[in-house]
Amino acid sequence: MFHVEQFSNSIAGMDDTPLARELANNTQRLSAIAAATVKTPSKTRIFTISNQKGGVGKTTTAVNLAAGLAQKGLKVLVIDLDPQGNASTALGIEHHGEVSGIYEVLTESAPLSSVIRKSPSMENLYCVPATIDLAGAEMEMIATLAESDRNHVLRLAIEGFLQSASVKPDYIFIDCPPSLGLLTINAFTAANEVLIPIQCEYYALEGLSQLLRNIQLIQKHLNPNLQLSTILLTMFDNRTKLAGQVADDVRDHFPEQTLKTVIPRSVRVAEAPSFQQPVITYDKTSPGTIAYLEAAIELANRGA
Ligand SMILES: Nc1ncnc2c1ncn2[C@@H]1O[C@H](COP(=O)(O)OP(=O)(O)O)[C@@H](O)[C@H]1O
Ligand SMILES: [Mg+2]
Repeated sequence: MFHVEQFSNSIAGMDDTPLARELANNTQRLSAIAAATVKTPSKTRIFTISNQKGGVGKTTTAVNLAAGLAQKGLKVLVIDLDPQGNASTALGIEHHGEVSGIYEVLTESAPLSSVIRKSPSMENLYCVPATIDLAGAEMEMIATLAESDRNHVLRLAIEGFLQSASVKPDYIFIDCPPSLGLLTINAFTAANEVLIPIQCEYYALEGLSQLLRNIQLIQKHLNPNLQLSTILLTMFDNRTKLAGQVADDVRDHFPEQTLKTVIPRSVRVAEAPSFQQPVITYDKTSPGTIAYLEAAIELANRGA
């Protein structure tokens, strides 16, 4: 017969298993997150989340850092600048053809304030959706706007919004498409800071020098205020040696910019968008949630 005493012994024996240690560690990290305070920036920090590689975690990072900062009480706006509209989906914001979004801002001079939607799952969190129409926006902008104007459309829209808004966001995250075209140039021109998510896998650093060259070109010709402030290591798998090597490599090259927090590969992170939610609300205690909340706090407290 199974006695209560035996049962509690076996529970006690579990304290030292890797799983029990991980659970205890997660509980501790969640308490630290709950207790942490975040700095409110004196003026809106505008980030472009860029990497011309697809599938490196740009959208996941934009949505979950935004949600993390909103959960800590800051006001955050995500601008979806990818025609696929993945950030809009992950934030639970409709983005079918009838919805007005960033396309109308870029091609029809709609004010940004007219296309901002509130997240259904969180306070303080807002989104400008992207519809599939955005796929044609680059061509339209090239056809209709002078060369000197077309790189600045998003910057002017954001500046106009910040001047007239009674309540300004503390953070704006622009989620870029996986290319270095006119949409991405508009994001670089509008932002003060670039955040590059780097996936901890073999080809991670490939293409990075091209991205850095493009940032330098933008600094020189279009936006001298732009700085590469933040690199976030994503989809880290601690079972592989390679992930650790990539992380070390990135830290060697970018010791100042790379956040200490690393985002682990986690099933819950990948599942959350199909529930139209950031992972932070979808599963409040998953390792991905903990890491994105820690990254948000670190980003806020390092300052601009
Ligand atoms: N930390 C993670 N763990 C597991 N899956 C992830 C993680 N981050 C992103 N993903 C998944 O990887 C895919 C690519 O991520 P995404 O953020 O859409 O990249 P990008 O915007 O750069 O194309 C998506 O299916 C996403 O759900
Ligand atoms: Mg994306």
